[in-house]
Amino acid sequence: MRLFATDSENDLMNIAENAPGAKIFFRILTEGTGADWPLSRKFGSHPDTIYHLILQSAEMGLNPWGISFHVGSQQRDIGQWDDAVARCKYLFDAVAEEGIELKMINIGGGFPANYVDPTFSVKEYTDEILRFIEEDFGDHLPDIILEPGRSLVGDAGIIVAEVINLSRKSKNNLYQWVYLDIGKFGGMIETIDESIKFPIYFEKEGLAEEIILAGPTCDSMDILYEHYRYHMPDSVVPGDKVYIFTTGAYTQSYSSVNFNGFPPLQAVIYRDNQGDE
Ligand SMILES: Cc1ncc(COP(=O)(O)O)c(C=O)c1O
Repeated sequence: MRLFATDSENDLMNIAENAPGAKIFFRILTEGTGADWPLSRKFGSHPDTIYHLILQSAEMGLNPWGISFHVGSQQRDIGQWDDAVARCKYLFDAVAEEGIELKMINIGGGFPANYVDPTFSVKEYTDEILRFIEEDFGDHLPDIILEPGRSLVGDAGIIVAEVINLSRKSKNNLYQWVYLDIGKFGGMIETIDESIKFPIYFEKEGLAEEIILAGPTCDSMDILYEHYRYHMPDSVVPGDKVYIFTTGAYTQSYSSVNFNGFPPLQAVIYRDNQGDE
């Protein structure tokens, strides 16, 4: 392995010690504004800090190679790439004055899957992002790396769940609580703050009523949607199936090991006749 990402001095020293001469790319901070699932703050450093790390890396005998960023997952504002690419260009130019020629930008993930709110297509994203890169870099395009996650696999998954209880907590409550056999700890952790709104379908038909959706565990934070109102046909009874779409990304791998005795979410993979998954 000769290509490493970093955003901090300690990390850089470790790489210099253990992989001398390795290619390094440096992650810049982004705000994650516009993303359903922001990845801001925790990774990346301010461009000024990155500038110094790049110079340091060359002095340490490493090979400064490029800049990376992640604009936040399920990023709905394509303009966020424009800002981030501009910061990359600024760094390319700044270190070029010190004789360092960067060669690559890694534009991360953030491309959309299809949840409740509509988005542009991935093609519309990539066309726009390429335009931003060409505007900034002109004829001297760097190598471009993408790290798509959600947009590749999100739409491929459907969770088949079950209604386990319905409850109106007082006769004056407008909304019923609907408890499913899956919740935050069964793989739907991205419902934190109701960030990711999965399309949810009930097998029954009937007059739609607004509901509060909750998971099965003892933890009162195991509520899926209390503010955003999902609808359920009024004919639904416990035992009925519920289909949760666009659950191919960040669900099974998040599901807990036997919290409250619930086994981790199982995956069943369908293959077509050609053996493709
Ligand atoms: C460094 C990095 N790259 C790519 C991804 C994939 O992002 P997405 O699923 O938004 O495409 C992630 C997700 O957390 C990530 O942390």
